[in-house]
Amino acid sequence: MSPQPVKAALKKRVAVLISGRGSNMAALAEAARAPGYPAEICLVISNRPNAGGLELAREFGIKALSIDHKNYPSRESFEGDLHEALIDANINLICCAGFMRVLTPYFTRQWPNKILNIHPSLLPKYKGLNTHQRALDAGDTHHGCTVHYVNEDLDGGAVIAQTEIKINAGDTAESLAKRLIPHEHKLYVGSLEKVIKG
Ligand code: GAR
Repeated sequence: MSPQPVKAALKKRVAVLISGRGSNMAALAEAARAPGYPAEICLVISNRPNAGGLELAREFGIKALSIDHKNYPSRESFEGDLHEALIDANINLICCAGFMRVLTPYFTRQWPNKILNIHPSLLPKYKGLNTHQRALDAGDTHHGCTVHYVNEDLDGGAVIAQTEIKINAGDTAESLAKRLIPHEHKLYVGSLEKVIKG
């Protein structure tokens, strides 16, 4: 049986923050087209004006803005404008999807339990960057991705869901990233739904 349609007014208004190609954003946007999905992707914001994901968002008919962090003297002043754009769009939840800017407590405390992130490792392992290479260097047998809440601890908020994949002999950082990304998409779509439905 297909899920019941969710009335537009009852769908949570979600913004996706990106810095690059936006494949996780596109997965969320695609899922949100389904009448039964409890979120609407209303806004995409990139801190990098040349992010490919901005154009992709527009192809989905989603409003896409660039707020270039380089134009701001401090993280907080950048985050002030980010916050304002989210408030202007009546956003209920924020999904970071390859958003490569650390958010300060000034921002995260204004959105408690309202910001999600996808991270390409099995947190608490490998917070930060170069997660695929670090998993290989450590000789791990498994790798994966995590959706978690964002708070002031970098990649340290409560875990919502994880997917684990096996590391194969001969895997490189690139091959791992490529094999992991479809799992990221599925995990993020399911996690956002789970958060909204409670
Ligand atoms: C994804 O692999 C995501 O997990 C990672 O960036 C990639 C973005 O790809 N995020 C981080 O590393 C955050 N620290 P996408 O732009 O195609 O969604």
